[in-house]
Amino acid sequence: MAAALSKAASAGKREPQAFPHEIVRNAWYVCAWGSEVQADKLLGRRILGQPIVLYRTKAGRAVAMRDACPHRFMPLSKGRIYNDGVRCMYHGALFDADGKCLEVPSQHQIPPDCFVKTYPTVEVERWIWIWMGDPAKADPALIPDKQYLGMGSPGFRSVEIPLRHSKARYHLCNENLIDDTHITYLHMGQFESGNRVHTPPEVTQLGAWVRTKWYDPDEKISNYFKMEFDVNYDRAPRALVGHFCAPATHCVWIEVYDPKNPQAMPRTLRIAFCFTPESETSTHWFVCESRNYRTENAEWDQFMRESFHLIQGQDLGAVEGIEYNFQNSCDLPDEVSFRVDASAMRARRTINAMLDAEKPL
Ligand code: FES
Ligand SMILES: [Fe+2]
Repeated sequence: MAAALSKAASAGKREPQAFPHEIVRNAWYVCAWGSEVQADKLLGRRILGQPIVLYRTKAGRAVAMRDACPHRFMPLSKGRIYNDGVRCMYHGALFDADGKCLEVPSQHQIPPDCFVKTYPTVEVERWIWIWMGDPAKADPALIPDKQYLGMGSPGFRSVEIPLRHSKARYHLCNENLIDDTHITYLHMGQFESGNRVHTPPEVTQLGAWVRTKWYDPDEKISNYFKMEFDVNYDRAPRALVGHFCAPATHCVWIEVYDPKNPQAMPRTLRIAFCFTPESETSTHWFVCESRNYRTENAEWDQFMRESFHLIQGQDLGAVEGIEYNFQNSCDLPDEVSFRVDASAMRARRTINAMLDAEKPL
């Protein structure tokens, strides 16, 4: 494990700007696309290190329960939906949608500890959010406000990006998105002409969201951007706006303006991310892209999925490389920070404060 982590652990306290290696549990995370969770199918997925089984009742409610039968821990996702509940297909125990055991086929009496833990869920637009922490604190008002996510925004068409995983802890994924200067090098030539790395952003707090905005009045439009935004300008005003809602939700807005009519509505892409920890060292990448152009063109959806896949692969390579170093280096020194890391440091302070609130040191 990284030297920085072991030093923090041995010191017995968390520095506000230290990299947060732990998982915030009292928070809403996306556990599935609404389209994945159905009334006739059980979906098994590991969330925050717990095996979870997901399905819907006939009335449409998304159910999340521990994917382990209390008898011998058979995954319930290998069982069958029965009357809005789940039957374990090892020895037949039946549970309702609240996890209460209704039947043990081999005996009349139901043991008092025979129940399955369930978790609160809330469905907003295309995502199902889950609360894995203290259920008494599961306030739906804490779900990141959808107004920045693009899904359901008037005039936008949303595209579900296939779920991918990184073998990297979720805060590495957060910092990948928060520090946009990486696009100059990691995605060289694809997004911009190289001035991102030299331009400080404007940072604003919007309720629970932190907005980081770069605006370039005369940006070279790369071939990649010409294809992505279906424009033929060589130069145009362009904004890149990052939004982050701790501990794991982001939305990146990319706005390309018509250079001949910069007052007109820009072509806008809103890329929503939720980095849901699968485990302490791996992450589900839930991504939804919404655009306000070519909104009637379904073929464009597939083009956008393929183009995102390419860029995402570069980001996965970076965070997984860092994760490898975390896990396989015994002498990493303390990290060095740059001026541009101010936004990432702000995120760390917020996440560390959430962790401290869960487990006072
Ligand atoms: S493991 Fe489920 S009933 Fe035995
Ligand atoms: Fe990236």
